[in-house]
Amino acid sequence: MNKDIVCIGAGYIGGPTMAVIALKNPGRKVTVVDIDKERIDRWNSPDFNLPVYEPGLKEVVAAVRGRNLFFSTDIEKAVAECDIVFVGVNTPTKMFGRGAGRASDLQYWEATAREIKRFAKGDKIVIEKSTLPVRTAAAMDAILNDERGTGSGELGTGPKFTVLSNPEFLAEGTAIKDLLEPDRVLIGGPSDETGRKAVEEAVEIYAAWVEREKILTTDVWSAELTKLAANAFLAQRVSSINAIAGLCEATGADVDRVARVIGFDSRIGSKFLKAGPGFGGSCFKKDVLNLVYLCETYGLHTAAEYWMGVIRMNEHQQERIVSRLFREMFNTLANKKITLLGFAFKADTGDTRETPAGVVARLLADEHANITISDPKALDNAKRDLADLDGIKYVPDEYEAAKGADAVVVMTDWRHYPSLDWRRIFDGMRKPAFVFDTRNCLDRDALLKTGFRVLNIGK
Ligand SMILES: NC(=O)c1ccc[n+]([C@@H]2O[C@H](COP(=O)([O-])OP(=O)(O)OC[C@H]3O[C@@H](n4cnc5c(N)ncnc54)[C@H](O)[C@@H]3O)[C@@H](O)[C@H]2O)c1
Repeated sequence: MNKDIVCIGAGYIGGPTMAVIALKNPGRKVTVVDIDKERIDRWNSPDFNLPVYEPGLKEVVAAVRGRNLFFSTDIEKAVAECDIVFVGVNTPTKMFGRGAGRASDLQYWEATAREIKRFAKGDKIVIEKSTLPVRTAAAMDAILNDERGTGSGELGTGPKFTVLSNPEFLAEGTAIKDLLEPDRVLIGGPSDETGRKAVEEAVEIYAAWVEREKILTTDVWSAELTKLAANAFLAQRVSSINAIAGLCEATGADVDRVARVIGFDSRIGSKFLKAGPGFGGSCFKKDVLNLVYLCETYGLHTAAEYWMGVIRMNEHQQERIVSRLFREMFNTLANKKITLLGFAFKADTGDTRETPAGVVARLLADEHANITISDPKALDNAKRDLADLDGIKYVPDEYEAAKGADAVVVMTDWRHYPSLDWRRIFDGMRKPAFVFDTRNCLDRDALLKTGFRVLNIGK
């Protein structure tokens, strides 16, 4: 039997993931619920003004919305009627009390667990989609199953909840492709009979389009830790190549050449070796900090320091960008017009959470630079993120944004930036005209020929 699904949390994870699950499981009803009415309205908007930008997402939603995919704020009804509940709510870094600045803030997650318990009418499989600290599923299990045998009823009278961990490995910007062709799907569950059956039910959902060999099953805690470890490894690669980039700048080597040859080593592999402004996005920093907190909690202080170094290196990279610009632009940025091309944390997304461009903008503001920001998808988020800074201009058109600028700093590798008319940009700028390509995505030689003073990462 095809069991119905509800997902609590209609964000970057819940929306795209459930759209693809609905697409590939036409026999199941999939409902995505959220407390944020505006978000739900946008998921339901007739002109597909979706709250998340991802290549291909609109097309998938258009194919399934109203067929077997529904977006709603009626959490009670959705939970009561479904068999399987995915939880994809946000788990940001906690900014208060114990573990502030490191641990996960689990308030949204716990509120959700209590909602599920309140509204559930029958047994349910509850699947963690959010990235959570190790052993959170056990806590969820404790909240959900608390009254079985201890409340007014006898053992087994209340609904039974089986908690699984199914962390999501998609990357923003390629979410739909990653969901359609995942490297792997991971499902962690308890090893008793109910647990094994629940895992098999979860496997069935993905087996509708993913080869069985790629659907890996394990215990719940290992699944939770795997997600944190995978993100920590990815973040560590970015910080490692950025550490080499600084050394390249100091010694005259070229980081792209170094990375290319390192990547030929099959033990290392060629992906995620691109030097740049540092990692951003809602996950890497939060998940590495979470790992640091877990290591500290278990007394593994050297391991905690090791992973903390990955974060420190990342922050240093953004400081280095502004210091270098400052030095090259004659030790003052005050009243100079600096245009940031790109504000999203990576191409093909409007997401600006933890974007390196945000840090750079703030450091430039400290130097009293006049900042203009251009981005094809992220200007609304940029305005919200930097609302406390006065005088920033937000200009969608790149040529207009660069007009009169002393420097253009490419912060996001939007695909069309290399093919902009850089001669036209140069002509409109104040001289000497600087371009700092923090993504190493532009044609450096052509820019030099045009007359720009060119700065790159790791060169
Ligand atoms: N964004 C990514 O690329 C990515 C990738 C893998 C894993 N994750 C993980 O997925 C989780 C969600 O991330 P996201 O980027 O989708 O976050 P998000 O902030 O975009 O979405 C979370 C949604 O949950 C809703 N919500 C919070 N509490 C709720 C409640 N009690 N009831 C109903 N809805 C509630 C919020 O209103 C919000 O719309 C996080 O744990 C994150 O670490 C994210």
